[in-house]
Amino acid sequence: MRWLLSIAAGWLIGTMSHAQDPPTTMHGVFTATQVARGEELNEEYCAGCHEDGYFQDAFLAAWRDQPVSGLFDLLRATMPQDSPGLLSDTEYADLLAYIFALNGLPEGPSTLDPQTLDQLIIQTP
Ligand code: HEC
Repeated sequence: MRWLLSIAAGWLIGTMSHAQDPPTTMHGVFTATQVARGEELNEEYCAGCHEDGYFQDAFLAAWRDQPVSGLFDLLRATMPQDSPGLLSDTEYADLLAYIFALNGLPEGPSTLDPQTLDQLIIQTP
């Protein structure tokens, strides 16, 4: 009986500490549809000045442990450089999904929602 209790206690502690972890970009927080839309937006509004490689590796690693909202706000305030703020919030979120996918972050069932990005932490593989 004691072993059963200790398993149950271990499970409970495990779940509780897990519940306290903030969600991160490693948890499938954008959809394949968003990535596809982001790719088109990138092609139309960004690729003229940036190659895909610009958004990869060291670029995203520099944002590790920061909320996604920081990168979102920066994008919206400064890009495209010739017309900042041109796109809608949904479109900037789609571009983020594309950038995350470029960095090998996993797609998942949930949509990257521009309203809740301050609660989502950037982690990279
Ligand atoms: C007219 C050219 C131009 C266009 C179009 C453009 N950018 Fe940029 N972008 C720049 C320049 C120039 C910089 C600054 C480069 C640097 O300092 O390394 C920059 C910087 C950035 C940065 C880094 C900002 C930082 O401070 O770390 C990101 C992210 C970015 N661009 C994303 C985008 C996205 C996404 C799009 C499309 C919506 C886009 N850019 C369109 C020229 C452009």
